[in-house]
Amino acid sequence: MSVKRIGVLTSGGDCPGLNAVLHGVVSAATTRGFEVLGFLDGYEGLLNPVRYQRLDAVSVSHISHLGGTILGTTNRGRFVAKVGGGKKAEIDPAILRQARDTCRGLNLHALICIGGDGSLSTSLQLQKAGVDVVGVPKTIDNDILATASSFGFDSAVTCVVDSLDRLHTTARSHKRIMVVETMGRHAGWIALHGGLAGGADAILIPEIPFHHAKVAAFAKERASHGLASTMIVVAEGAVAAKGQLSTIAPGLRGKGEVRLGGVAEQVAREMEKRTGQETRHVVLGHLQRGGNPTALDRILGTRFGVGAIELVVKKKFSHMVSYQNYEIGGVPIAEAVARIRTVPPQGQFVHHAREIGICFGD
Ligand code: F6P
Repeated sequence: MSVKRIGVLTSGGDCPGLNAVLHGVVSAATTRGFEVLGFLDGYEGLLNPVRYQRLDAVSVSHISHLGGTILGTTNRGRFVAKVGGGKKAEIDPAILRQARDTCRGLNLHALICIGGDGSLSTSLQLQKAGVDVVGVPKTIDNDILATASSFGFDSAVTCVVDSLDRLHTTARSHKRIMVVETMGRHAGWIALHGGLAGGADAILIPEIPFHHAKVAAFAKERASHGLASTMIVVAEGAVAAKGQLSTIAPGLRGKGEVRLGGVAEQVAREMEKRTGQETRHVVLGHLQRGGNPTALDRILGTRFGVGAIELVVKKKFSHMVSYQNYEIGGVPIAEAVARIRTVPPQGQFVHHAREIGICFGD
């Protein structure tokens, strides 16, 4: 009897915990006697010249603690299905056919696609083209529906918290306002969790349009009570009421998302002008995506990897692994990519943050 072959790839922006997923996938597959091929640089590895490497117990040993991905990845290229704000685009059918022919030529039983909402949407298009896929939700932004969490988020939040711990001491010494920009695209999860855990005084998120005047009045009020430094965390996708999204580069050739950035600088300028208090801004950027995954992300990633193999064994194709109530299960990918998961402005998390005096600028 021939050995079953499974393909795996990592797609989209990298994220701490990807290697833990690969370790989980390959180890669980090997236990079941499957052979695993890891495609390089996301879906691009499926196109001519086809690029992959055989993954076995040796290739994935001691990689779970490492950031990045041993397979490489891209959030550009011919498979970009993400347009912006949760909208998706169709992949060129000729490209999908080429990828399908690669999978057939290599006699793949299934392809495990580890990626965010755009990459998971691509996987569904591949399924329609004739490849049996299983998804694993990946993103530091934590904006994928149908799973309580995705791996990488906790590592990104930890980076924000570590940074705030450092910034608090210098902000206090100089009695400054400090504005810290986090990633997260159109969802405010990283700013909200990082800000709450890191002791932010104000948190500005895409889901709640903010007013510069209100944030400035809040900082002045604090100063009048002897709280001379104010820590403001702003998500890169946050927008001032009647303002515009801050971007630093357009999407490529009309495909892919615009690059967000610049809102912290804008907020800092406004704060200094409106309060007269010295203000500095810091953009955390890719520090949030790099480095080693936290224990939580290693565990979630590993369990997602094992869960993906379980979905393959059960033939639950076009499903992705999902984390709900401490258990790993499976949900249709279609449910996860219908739109992005954003912070509910009236939800309990925001309510609790308001209860402890955090300002949202609204
Ligand atoms: O989606 C993950 C993410 O890190 C976003 O938070 C951020 O806007 C974007 O990717 C940055 O992408 P790039 O690596 O292309 O700059």
